Amino acid sequence: MATTSDIEKAAEVLRAGGLVALPTETVYGLGANAEDVAAVARIFQVKGRPPSHPLIVHIGGAHHLDEWVEEVPATARLLAGQFWPGPLTLVLRRGRRVPLEATGGLETVAVRVPDHPVALALLSAFGGGITAPSANRFGSVSPTTADDVRAELGDAVDFVLDGGPCGVGVESTIVDVTGETPSILRPGGVTREDLEAVLGYLIEAPSTSHVRVPGQHPSHYAPSARVVLVEPEKVADEAQLAQEQGHQVGVLLPPSLAGTAVKAHAVVPVPASMVGYARELYGFLRELDRRGCDLIVASLPVEEGLGLAIGNRLRRAAGPRSSQ
Ligand code: TXA
Ligand code: MG
Repeated sequence: MATTSDIEKAAEVLRAGGLVALPTETVYGLGANAEDVAAVARIFQVKGRPPSHPLIVHIGGAHHLDEWVEEVPATARLLAGQFWPGPLTLVLRRGRRVPLEATGGLETVAVRVPDHPVALALLSAFGGGITAPSANRFGSVSPTTADDVRAELGDAVDFVLDGGPCGVGVESTIVDVTGETPSILRPGGVTREDLEAVLGYLIEAPSTSHVRVPGQHPSHYAPSARVVLVEPEKVADEAQLAQEQGHQVGVLLPPSLAGTAVKAHAVVPVPASMVGYARELYGFLRELDRRGCDLIVASLPVEEGLGLAIGNRLRRAAGPRSSQ
């Protein structure tokens, strides 16, 4: 676990233009000084991410928001007050302090306050904003432990802060608050229902067919193994069939099939609680990759609450692979 001196050292690395992997409550991020154009460019290079894909600026508290954005609409103020620190990212009009390199050339910027003691200590020690995408190579599964980060990025990152396993496990919910009404660009750790309860009205969530967030291709969040989604009751049969056809099959066994014997290479029972499933999802996908599976059979959870984010990530993992 990161010590105070680790945090001081990490802040130094950021000041010197280096890259620091930092824990957040959602997933680990690959951080740089948001105002250092060269450091921001290195993030894209290390991740293999196209420069047009915007990053999130992490700040130390809602009271810093005005420093990073052009204007803060009442809705943004309300949501920030309610959910920060926490797994909510707000898209607002870009303030002058944010270089266009960090926003992929957009005049909007995504901002959030992470709810993790190590991330908050780093933000406080550093003093500025930290741009941080998830600390994985472009298109692959986000890391939820410091070991995942090291396995994913190795020496390409200058310093890794260990904050233990991430508590939420899927990325933040991204809400665009630049328009008349807020809309969810990416479902995540704050549920649509939570947002609606605070706003007092229903809001738009992404349809599963229509990809709205720039930089989100269907193939994102994908393990090396191909992912196939079937109805929960068909998971065992589908897995057995594929195994008989010569695949090394990994199974995410839905709770409704708990205890069912499945003929496959590796079987991981999925937690019945959505909080538990979200926390473990990426770890499961990594584990099945590590165990040599070339095909993963899974089913979608009920897509409400955190199930919306889990379903979104599973669909993307199962989506068509682009050249990566
Ligand atoms: O939980 C999280 O959000 C994690 C942790 C590290 O904070 N970060 C994360 O970053 O998931 P990344 O780069 O993997 O995903 C950021 C998403 C991208 O899909 C990007 O397209 C979107 O945020 N985004 C960033 N700026 C945007 C903007 N101005 N307008 C719309 N979408 C934006
Ligand atoms: Mg990512």
